[in-house]
Amino acid sequence: MKPIERIKAPIRDEMDIFEQKFKQSMQTKVPLLNRIMDYIIRRKGKQMRPMFVFLTAKIVSDGKVNERTYRGASIIELIHTATLVHDDVVDDSNKRRGFFSINALWKNKIAVLVGDYLLSRGVLLSVDHEDYDILQLISTAVREMSEGELLQIEKARKLDITEEVYFDIIRQKTASLIASCTAIGAASVNAGKTTIEKMKHFGETIGLAFQIKDDLFDYTDDKIGKPTGIDIKEQKMTLPLIYALNQSDKKEKRWLINSIKNHNKSRKRVKEVIAFVKAKGGIEYTQQKMWEYQQKALELLHEFPDSENKKALEFMINYVVNRKI
Ligand code: IPE
Ligand code: IPE
Ligand code: MG
Ligand code: MG
Repeated sequence: MKPIERIKAPIRDEMDIFEQKFKQSMQTKVPLLNRIMDYIIRRKGKQMRPMFVFLTAKIVSDGKVNERTYRGASIIELIHTATLVHDDVVDDSNKRRGFFSINALWKNKIAVLVGDYLLSRGVLLSVDHEDYDILQLISTAVREMSEGELLQIEKARKLDITEEVYFDIIRQKTASLIASCTAIGAASVNAGKTTIEKMKHFGETIGLAFQIKDDLFDYTDDKIGKPTGIDIKEQKMTLPLIYALNQSDKKEKRWLINSIKNHNKSRKRVKEVIAFVKAKGGIEYTQQKMWEYQQKALELLHEFPDSENKKALEFMINYVVNRKI
């Protein structure tokens, strides 16, 4: 069985129902928007966030989910999709999920509006059903994601990022949404405050590993359905590069910074920077950090009772760091 199938095994029914509901939540009478929504539905992603919602809900509720859980999963995937559409504008990226990004096909103007539309549909799904606890959790994540992406841009301009700031950025831009998945999963089945907090902490921890893995992908030539090697081009300094900088002498540092500042659009130079980062051990160091968060996430899960859902979530933790896309 493929790893993803192994994870989905105990939530197969829920994921099938989710897909139907998710589709419905995007319906519109505006023809252009409708075409774009169709396109998005056909090019679906891994849907890991809804999986986090269902698995955590089931772990804390003895296997039962409800309509709030489904709405929570849809809201998360709507908002996740919105942020990807916007992120590809911000990162000037033309590929997503193995095909053209929305901005590549319909240009930035439309991509910005499509992202806003998805965000508003997500928010309305909560408001219409008075799921205010879920709305509160998701809104916090959206705020943090915007702050994280902006902090990242600020650092890309100044090129003065530290390891500590890198972790702040990824906690905000990525881990916060995954933390909201696991918190919403628990909240949807009316778990207590302490359980919600524990699940949130668990989600944040695995979310950090998730973004570190994504940043490692960028240093490969792997076929992951989106461009690789674009972080340096966009002057995005992630952990492998930060580590390499910290391991460099003055001259090497000057070369690195100059490369990123003035030669970031040169494919040859970017390749040289990648090779340099690898030679300095930046990849190994980053993997080590990722594995630390993976272990921590596994530990945080230990305190929940054993079940097939917990087993699936353990598989999911391992999938986060071993996945090929
Ligand atoms: C991509 O997330 C954005 C990041 C936070 C790195 P996913 O890798 O979960 O994207 P899809 O939904 O599967 O395409
Ligand atoms: C994560 O960062 C993006 C969001 C939080 C939306 P990236 O810019 O690295 O994500 P990808 O690589 O484009 O998916
Ligand atoms: Mg991006
Ligand atoms: Mg990335």
